[in-house]
Amino acid sequence: MSKTVYILNGPNLNLLGKRQPEIYGHDTLEDVEANCRKVAGEFGLDCVLMQSNHEGQIIDWVHEAREKAAGIIINPAAFTHTSVAILDALNAFEGAVIEVHISNVHKRESFRHHSYVSLRADGVIAGLGVEGYALAMRRMGSLLA
Ligand code: DQA
Repeated sequence: MSKTVYILNGPNLNLLGKRQPEIYGHDTLEDVEANCRKVAGEFGLDCVLMQSNHEGQIIDWVHEAREKAAGIIINPAAFTHTSVAILDALNAFEGAVIEVHISNVHKRESFRHHSYVSLRADGVIAGLGVEGYALAMRRMGSLLA
């Protein structure tokens, strides 16, 4: 059975492609999923992309991943900078975790410079646009091979 990677996305990322395109670009989450699926296929991995505006839902998906996924690629969006609860959930997940940010958070407001999730992530990608997701999936390919 092929290993599954969850691609979890936090608040406002449902508007990807429409929201502040000068920062986040014109691609949508559907484009992200298609690109990730292509890369996952090269490594014999399966992937599932999910998005929620609700912190508890993201935590529930991380818990679900404990049983169903070998890795998590997560863009927690604004919860990156606030959520000890998502960090705690990720600490209870034993597989690989890669944190992705579309924009370079370090070039932006200082409140975006701190990430709770980075305390758990095995790797962090920021500022590579939506390509960051596919690159994270490539890394999952090496980690989960
Ligand atoms: C983001 C960066 C966060 O600071 C912001 O709240 C987002 C998106 C990114 O992908 O660049 O919503 O995670």
